[in-house]
Amino acid sequence: MSKNPSQDDNEAFQSYDFLKKFKRLRLIEPYVGVLGFFFVTVCVIFCFCYLDYRAVEKGYRVPGKSERFKWLKVDGALMVDKTRVEFLSENGSGCDLFDGDWVWDEKYPLYQSKDCRFLDEGFRCTENGRPDLFYTKWRWQPKHCNLPRFDPKLMLEKLRNKRLVFAGDSIGRNQWESLLCMLSSVVPNKDSIYEVNGSPITKHKGFLVFKFKDYNCTVEYYRAPFLVLQSRPPAGSSEKIKTTLKVDQMDWNSWKWKDADVLVFNTGHWWNYEKTIRGGCYFQEGAEVKIEMKVEHAYRRSIETVVKWIHNEVNTSKTQVFFRTFAPVHFRGGDWRTGGSCHMETLPELGTSLVPPETWVQFKMVTDVLLANTSTWKFDVLNVTYMTAQRKDGHSSLYYMGPKASPAPIHRQDCSHWCLPGVPDSWNELLYALFLKRKTTHALNTSTYSSQA
Ligand SMILES: *[C@@H]1O[C@H](CO)[C@@H](O)[C@H](O)[C@H]1NC(C)=O
Ligand SMILES: *[C@@H]1O[C@H](CO)[C@@H](O)[C@H](O)[C@H]1NC(C)=O
Ligand SMILES: *[C@@H]1O[C@H](CO)[C@@H](O)[C@H](O)[C@H]1NC(C)=O
Ligand SMILES: *[C@@H]1O[C@H](CO)[C@@H](O)[C@H](O)[C@H]1NC(C)=O
Ligand SMILES: *[C@@H]1O[C@H](CO)[C@@H](O)[C@H](O)[C@H]1NC(C)=O
Ligand SMILES: *[C@@H]1O[C@H](CO)[C@@H](O)[C@H](O)[C@H]1NC(C)=O
Repeated sequence: MSKNPSQDDNEAFQSYDFLKKFKRLRLIEPYVGVLGFFFVTVCVIFCFCYLDYRAVEKGYRVPGKSERFKWLKVDGALMVDKTRVEFLSENGSGCDLFDGDWVWDEKYPLYQSKDCRFLDEGFRCTENGRPDLFYTKWRWQPKHCNLPRFDPKLMLEKLRNKRLVFAGDSIGRNQWESLLCMLSSVVPNKDSIYEVNGSPITKHKGFLVFKFKDYNCTVEYYRAPFLVLQSRPPAGSSEKIKTTLKVDQMDWNSWKWKDADVLVFNTGHWWNYEKTIRGGCYFQEGAEVKIEMKVEHAYRRSIETVVKWIHNEVNTSKTQVFFRTFAPVHFRGGDWRTGGSCHMETLPELGTSLVPPETWVQFKMVTDVLLANTSTWKFDVLNVTYMTAQRKDGHSSLYYMGPKASPAPIHRQDCSHWCLPGVPDSWNELLYALFLKRKTTHALNTSTYSSQA
């Protein structure tokens, strides 16, 4: 399994190390420090130029001043392409939303981070000093149909008196905050949107429930990186077993999820050795701790548990369930704490060369389980892994430590979370399309909505 960081637990460590380094530089080597900073700055500038140049060579269409008009025309042509049906029309039903391309669109982003109070500072890349804005300007264009333009008013109207729930790891939180920003952009009175328990947007909260008062709807996030239950081991277990993951039981909070009207799952970034066994977290089935169980196997069992739970516990006539697939990381030349980087990436790539190969093994395992019984399980797979794999340019990289402390040291980059506005907005546009599609399909035909996967 891939080793992915999560801000949830690593950030403290990162800041501490940063301070240590910083102090040492300041006390012992002031001139070296200044010189070093100057050198790095020059390198960064040089590399931006180099990357741009390389991009032109590879045939990217990034609009310079002269290119801009041409690009817009191409884009405009795509939008009125008569051969492409509207996804929401009857003929759009067969369209695979996840097969497509990233296209440049001057009308993006959909909001500005400074106008959105619901964002962790870790996602506010521009405010944290990220110099380029290209990464906010790509729109996802499916090959065979057009997505509806995201209309926050319409979505809020459709969510009236309803609950939308995200459950998963910090990348799920990334997506949840994106949706809060997308929706709140049309609410003039921001004070009418509030956390029902008065909790601030900070990390380490079990869950956060934001209410849009004018619509009596809530958009909720539950932190459950494994989705299954993590708790104390059985009495009498060996010392080295600190906790166990009950791969056959859902998380404590799952009773709050099942009556949601829209439910969006994700998991993946924590299913690795570092975040489980190394920390004394073993796997348990029934009453028995399975010391020998491999992470991969436990992961598979837990996805099966989620699928069974949806089948047995969720009324899928009421609740529309989504399972978002893994969002790949993009560390070049190392892992997150061994110098892996992504801060020089300013453009998407057409291939997926920077994505670790384990991503695809994991993807296949998860989708095999999710799609095993499509005839009986009724949920949508938000198949974002491929489209997201191309977005090496979208990560927080050095710009996740707040406006004062950013940029982070070069060897402490975050190439797994995403800047906002940014890539998770596109996942939410797909979520929106599928959400509206179900609404219209239901209106026509109440009995037959089957998985879009
Ligand atoms: C749907 O497709 C059929 C056959 O291709 C075509 O005749 C019809 O006009 C289309 N309807 C819409 C609303 O695009
Ligand atoms: C996900 O989307 C990609 C790209 O369109 C496609 O190749 C793959 O088969 C899809 N997988 C699933 C499980 O839908
Ligand atoms: C608000 O929404 C909840 C469901 O989330 C519903 O139970 C309640 O009746 C709604 N309140 C009003 C005033 O419509
Ligand atoms: C699919 O259905 C079969 C037979 O009903 C069942 O044995 C199996 O566990 C199901 N798969 C999953 C992933 O739940
Ligand atoms: C499932 O939800 C539908 C739609 O809200 C409702 O009509 C039906 O009674 C529910 N079924 C059960 C078993 O609760
Ligand atoms: C409505 O349901 C019928 C039978 O269940 C099905 O054959 C038909 O394709 C459905 N129509 C639409 C628009 O989904």
